[in-house]
Formats: sequence, C-alpha cells, structure tokens
Amino acid sequence: MVGIMDKDKVSVPDFSQMKADRRPIAMVTAYDYPFARIFDQAGIDALLVGDSLGMVVQGNDSTIPVTVDEMVYHCRMVARARRRALLIADMPFLSFQVSIEQAIQNAGRLIKEGGAEAVKVEGGIAIAETVRRLTEIDIPVMGHVGLTPQSVHRMGGHRVQGRRPGKGPGGRERLIDDALALEAAGAFAVVLEGMPRNLAAEITARLTIPTIGIGAGSDCDGQVLVMHDLLGLSESLLPRFAKRYANLWQAASGAVNDYIREVRDHSFPDAEHSYSPGRKSA
Ligand code: KIV
Repeated sequence: MVGIMDKDKVSVPDFSQMKADRRPIAMVTAYDYPFARIFDQAGIDALLVGDSLGMVVQGNDSTIPVTVDEMVYHCRMVARARRRALLIADMPFLSFQVSIEQAIQNAGRLIKEGGAEAVKVEGGIAIAETVRRLTEIDIPVMGHVGLTPQSVHRMGGHRVQGRRPGKGPGGRERLIDDALALEAAGAFAVVLEGMPRNLAAEITARLTIPTIGIGAGSDCDGQVLVMHDLLGLSESLLPRFAKRYANLWQAASGAVNDYIREVRDHSFPDAEHSYSPGRKSA
C-alpha cells in the first residue's frame, strides 16, 4: 500500500512540478505484476495500463475490442506491484463516449477496483465536457491526441496525424485546439502520439500541463513507450519512433529451444535438478 506520507511516491501534482522544473517524465506501459515490479523498482515515473494490451497481450489487430472488465483485471495486477510510480489506466473504446454518467462509472471502476490514480482518454474537443466532469469529481484525467488508436477506422490505419493543415479531424490546427481544450477542461497531462515533432513542440510550448510523447519527437515534457517495443517482446517490426532497448523475444526463444532440446536428449532434469532419496532439500 502507498501511504499518504510517502515522499518518494509520484503523484498527479508532481507532473506539473516536473514540467516547471524541466525534469523529463519517463512513462511505460505495463499489464502485469512482474514487469510492473521491474519498472517500478527501476524508478519509472508513471505506469500506464494501456488499452494497447488488446494488441500486445491479447493479439488483436486494434485496441477496439478491449473491455472495462479487462482493464480492471490488468490494472489490479499492476497496482499490486506499484510502490512509487503514478498508475494511470486507459479508458477503452466506448467506455466514456456514450454518456458522462457512464464515463464516471467506468472511470470510477478503474480507480476503485483497479487501483489506478488517474485515467487516460483519447480525443479532444469532442470529449472536453466529459474530462471537465471527471476532474470536477477528483478523477484526474490524462488526455491523448494525435494518432489515437481507438480512431483507427476513421484514420484508415495507425497513421501519423497533423501533417495536413486545417481544423478537420487529424489536421494540424485541430490537434492544437484539441490539446488546448483538454487543458482547459482540467486534464493534468496530455499524451501526444504520432505527429510531426514541430507540432508536438508547439503544443508543448502552448500548454502549461506536461505533454508525454510517443512518436512525437524529443521536445515533449516526457516520453512513453509500449513495454513490448522497449523490451523487444514483439514479433513484428517496430514503428520508426520506437526504440528496442533489449531483445527479450530472442532471449525467451533461445531459452525454450534449449529446454526442448534437453528434454528430448534426456539431459534435463539432471542430478542437480532432481531430488535424491536421502537428502532434505527444497
Ligand atoms: O494504450 C497505450 O499503450 C497508449 C500509449 C501508447 C500511450 O495509449
């Protein structure tokens, strides 16, 4: 449990202080206990239980099928592992767009049942009123504009946004207005995903709340990566913006290949990994 006097715990207000102090915010996604423990122990500032779990954990080709029940389930595992990091949970597709009442109920479940300290919602002007109501009842909200994966069908794929000028969906000025609307509605931070770096830099300069970039260049106030990209846990090619800091796919594949070979040639289990009749051991 996190005590209210824990001075090392990252809180929602720390985010704006970090922007003010020009201390970059490091955030990563997590979906289960062991990886959340590793990231939290390493000193990550924020853990995001992203609805990206629909793709990287469940194997779907979009985030659309993810449910609130599934988000709560994964959030609980991460919450048990978290000591220091701020824990943010994504609100999945159609969990906040139908009505403000439903948005409050679903956000409430992520906080009460999932143990999250904040929720993240995709969208801008269109959901500003929902963001305002959630923040008014003390549910901290992180916004998310640009390449919003829940809009995959409107975008015609997971495509970089903000390259065209204009106020139409995905237009450069529209994304600026969306980010400003989220700040005005009370969001404490905004994820900027998949947009030209000069646009992300402009939004970051115009907002007083921090921006967290993913595929949005180095001028954001923080960065987030999907853990499977960061650790090399995915089979597919990485998007251009993602950096692989390890290759766990290769390591796991090598390990299980060794195991299969040793079972088949009878070299596992050897004496060291077997119980002898006379010796007491664990
Ligand atoms: O669902 C997710 O993991 C996200 C991040 C990519 C920001 O929204």
